[in-house]
Parts: sequence; structure tokens; C-alpha cells
Amino acid sequence: MEMDVEQILEILRNGEALDDGEPIDLLQHSLQCATLLAERHPGDEELQLAGLLHDLGTVLRPRANAAHATIGAAAIESLLGSRVAWLIAHHVDAKRYLVATDPEYRARLSARSIETLEAQGGPLDAASVAALDAHPDLAALVALRKADDDAKVIGLDVGSVDRWIEPLHEVSRRVR
Ligand SMILES: [Fe+2]
Repeated sequence: MEMDVEQILEILRNGEALDDGEPIDLLQHSLQCATLLAERHPGDEELQLAGLLHDLGTVLRPRANAAHATIGAAAIESLLGSRVAWLIAHHVDAKRYLVATDPEYRARLSARSIETLEAQGGPLDAASVAALDAHPDLAALVALRKADDDAKVIGLDVGSVDRWIEPLHEVSRRVR
């Protein structure tokens, strides 16, 4: 599946009708996640877009759950490149990584996120932890995951998808 910026925005907006079992809808969650990353990592547009689009797979296939990360990554890879795709593809593993390596991390997770952890395979095993430890983009992946966990604030207004149109075009130009 190959998509352009307009199609991605359309799918993102459709997230307004979904909530994935969380207290805010998926569009608001996505916008909050991207905005948090823009505050925490202002120079990393690719990371911000990974935050914006990390749950795109849930909009595309609402019942896929554990597979939503790879579905979303595959949908944007040709437009936004392999780094954004890698971050999106691994944001569920990042949760499993953090549960395995950071004793305080589990307390940050929402009730729904703890519930889905088991279906996603539980904490990562030692070999998978070591593989991620060796990955050069682990810090960005962990940042994405923590922003994902924090982006569930009821009533927090972070603007519309329009804020992200230019960054989407810019990163896609850079990738081509
Ligand atoms: Fe998320």
C-alpha cells in the first residue's frame, strides 16, 4: 500500500471515531503524542511524525491490536522512510522492552495498556532486549513510547492536524 500526505491525513482524522479503550479518541491521542515530542525533541521531525502516526494501523484495522504497529509502519514507509517506519513498527516492543528493563515503568501505563501487554507478548526476553540495546535509535524509540503513554490527557487541546501538514511534506521530500 502506498499513500500520499492527503490519504494519511484522512486516515488520521478517522481516528476521531475510535478510542482503542482509552479515555480520549485516537485523533486526540495522536496529536498529543506528536505535540509532546515536538516539545521534548524540537529538532527531530521524524520522531514527531512517528508520534503522530504510530497508531495509524489501529485506524486501518481496528481489531488487529498486536499487529497495529507493523500495519501502520508498512502504510507510511514509502512516503516517510525507513526510520519513521522502524520507530512505528517497534513502539509496542518498546513498551515490552521498558516493562522488562525499568521497574518503575509499569506504573506509567494505563489500565488498558497493561491489559493489552499480555496479548502483545508480555515483557521482552533477554535476547530481544539485547537486540534493542544495540540499536542506534533506541533513545528515540523510548522517547516515542513515553510520549505515547503520556498522550492520554482528557480535555488537553493541542490544535488540529493542519499543524502537521508541512512537516509531513518536508520529511517526505527529504526521503525521496
Ligand atoms: Fe498510542
